[in-house]
Parts: sequence; C-alpha cells; structure tokens
Amino acid sequence: MKKIMVVFGTRPEAIKMCPLVKELYKIKEFQTLVLITGQHREMLKQVLDSFFVTPDYDLNIMKEGQDLFDITISILTGMKKVLETEKPDLVLVHGDTTTAFAASLAAFYMNIPYGHVEAGLRTYDLTAPYPEEYNRQAIGIGAKFHFAPTKTAKMNLVKEGKPESSIFVTGNTIMDALNLSINDNYTHPVLEWASGSRLVLLTAHRRENLGPPLYDIFHGIKRVLNEVNDVKVLYPIHLNPAIRKIAAEVFKEDSKIKIIEPLNVIDFHNIMYRSEFILTDSGGIQEEASGLKKPVLVLRDTTERPEGIQTGTLKLIGTGEETIYREFKRLLTDKEEYDAMSKASNPYGDGTACKQIIDILTSRL
Ligand code: UD1
Ligand code: UDP
Repeated sequence: MKKIMVVFGTRPEAIKMCPLVKELYKIKEFQTLVLITGQHREMLKQVLDSFFVTPDYDLNIMKEGQDLFDITISILTGMKKVLETEKPDLVLVHGDTTTAFAASLAAFYMNIPYGHVEAGLRTYDLTAPYPEEYNRQAIGIGAKFHFAPTKTAKMNLVKEGKPESSIFVTGNTIMDALNLSINDNYTHPVLEWASGSRLVLLTAHRRENLGPPLYDIFHGIKRVLNEVNDVKVLYPIHLNPAIRKIAAEVFKEDSKIKIIEPLNVIDFHNIMYRSEFILTDSGGIQEEASGLKKPVLVLRDTTERPEGIQTGTLKLIGTGEETIYREFKRLLTDKEEYDAMSKASNPYGDGTACKQIIDILTSRL
C-alpha cells in the first residue's frame, strides 16, 4: 500500500485540497494522511469543519504578525520530524502559499517525491503576487507530478523545460469543491440585509496591497457607495489585524457596507452565487466566479489566471482609487458590459479534477 501525505495550511489550499482528500480516502490502495501546518488557524478550521476532514498532524505554527521567515522555518522544522516518522511515498502540496513552498522543500530535502496540485500558474513577476510567484516557481522545480488546471498552465511548464510526461491537465479542484457546496435552497441573514439592493461581494488580503493600495481600494469603493443608491457591499474580512485596522478606519459607520467575520466556505460560495458581482484581490475567487458566471473586478495589476480574462469573466483593474471608482461604477451602470462578463464560459474544468488526479496517481505510483 502506498502512503500519500496531503499537506496544506491556509484557507484556499484547504478548500481546494479537502475534496481531493475525501476522494483519496475512498481508494483502498492508498493510505492517506493529512498534515496541516496551521499557517492559518481559525480560517483553516472553518474549512476542515465544512468538509468534515480531520488532520492526522497539526504543526500549529500560526502567530500574529508572522513573517515569511517564521512560517518557513516552523514548517521545515515541524515537517522534518513527521516525514522521518511517516516516510510517505508521496507528498501532495497545493498552489503557491509559503506552506506549499516549505512543505515541498521539506519533501525535497528528505528525497520524498511530491506532486503539485494547481501547477503552472505564472505572472513571471516576482513582486506580484508576493511571495506567491516565487513559491510556485520554486515548487515547480522539484515536483514529480504537475497537476495543471488549464492548458495555459501546462504550456508555462513546458516552456520552462519540465518533461511533458510529468504534466497533467486536470481542471481545478475548486470546481469539485463548488459541486459540493452550492445549494439551490440556500438562505442567510445577510441576503435579507441586502434585499432590495444589488449585492456586491468584496474581499482583499494580498500582502503587496497592505498599506497605501488597500486605502486606495477602500476609498474608491466608498466613493461609489456615496453616489449609487441601490447597492450594498458585503465584506467578509480576513483575520489579518493589519487589514481590519484599515477597513475600520475607512468604512466606519457606512451603512451600505457590512463588514463581517470570514464566512465558512459553504456560505461564501452560496452568497457569491447570489451576488451581483465581486471585487477581489483573491486568487481562488477568480476561478470560483468563472465557475459561477459572476463578473469580477480584480483588484490587482497582474493575474496568474489569464484564462478568466480571455473568456471575459474577469477584468483586471489594479489598485488605484480613480480606476476602482470608475470601473466599479461602470459595472453597476453598463448593462451591456455586465451581461457580457456574466455570460463568459468557464475555463477551469468540469469538476472532475480530483478523480483525474487520483487516476493518474493510481497508475503512476
Ligand atoms: C496567506 C498566503 C497567501 C494566501 C492567503 C489566503 C503566504 C505567504 N500567504 O496569506 O498566499 O492568498 O493566505 O488567505 O503563504 N490570521 C488569523 N487567523 C487565521 C488566518 C490568519 O488570525 O485563521 C491572521 C494572523 O494574524 C496572521 C495573519 O492573519 O499572522 C496573516 O496570515 P498569513 O498566512 O501570514 O498571510 P495571509 O495574508 O493570510
Ligand atoms: N472564502 C471563504 N470565506 C470568506 C472569503 C473567502 O470561504 O469569507 C473562500 C473563497 O470561496 C475561496 C477562498 O476562500 O475559495 C479564497 O481564499 P483567499 O482569498 O483567502 O486566498 P487566495 O485564493 O487569494 O489565495
């Protein structure tokens, strides 16, 4: 029997890896172990609870104000012990977080092969997203299996010289997650709060946006809310205190924006499904929105998800106050633009990524 260790540590990795873990548990030829680093604590627990996944190991590393050294060092030290004890045949990591980078490095140092889920995304700009672009390129150097969500991602890896026999286009496991979460009979009190208005979802958390860009983003949004009546913005805010401080300062006492604690993923997906559109600097939300056909104004200068731009669901608008004001207002008033963005096709797969990954592992391990 082959032993597979699935490693993740933040909310988005968990959302995209739990559906895979649940499928792996069904395969008798594999012993599946789950290690969480705890880079996130509460936001990770929300996902584990939603998908009923219980980790075998928890490195429990999170602390307030953690920097990239703290995260990397704690994971390397913690994983060394676990890998020495468990000696898995394969480690699976996801995406581009420092958890994924440090876990892949730990596996590499122990000569344990690892597979990279959501491989091949690139901006080729090491400053944006930071440090994620570095992380995913570094993970790609040593991966035995690259599970690319799209052909574009595969081509990036091919151009970098990775052997084609190690790259598999599977779609993104986020589509598998959406299949588990969307419910046609869903209700939530915030939907009542927004009834009679158009509901716009907002999230923002990128490290490179902390500081002046975040002020600009929030000021641009606030100006639109001051001018347009029938709009309400729901902002489930990240637990990072640095973000909360700026949001509280800019949005204080604004009745058209509701700042709430992070939603569990089932709520978030279902509320997204019922919203008009989304303003975000998130990576994963760009894919989910494509799956749910919800337009997104991407609050970043660059994206590793060019497929969604090409098909038309996503529009990259940067972090400047003026542009955000103009583009947010435009999407509220320009019906033609809104209709075009909400009818685009979904390039991120058909919800069978987990099954495809497992079929590949079954035949190759
Ligand atoms: C991390 C990832 C980023 C990913 C994001 C998803 C890195 C370097 N960054 O960024 O790629 O897009 O997660 O959200 O890997 N906090 C809590 N409770 C939680 C989670 C976070 O209190 O459950 C607070 C802590 O004070 C923590 C801070 O948020 O120190 C920042 O968390 P961290 O993981 O360092 O950075 P993120 O911005 O969340
Ligand atoms: N999400 C959630 N609750 C929230 C906000 C987001 O469950 O309150 C989910 C969302 O559905 C998506 C993921 O978190 O799957 C995105 O995570 P985040 O934006 O933190 O990170 P990124 O995708 O940018 O790495």
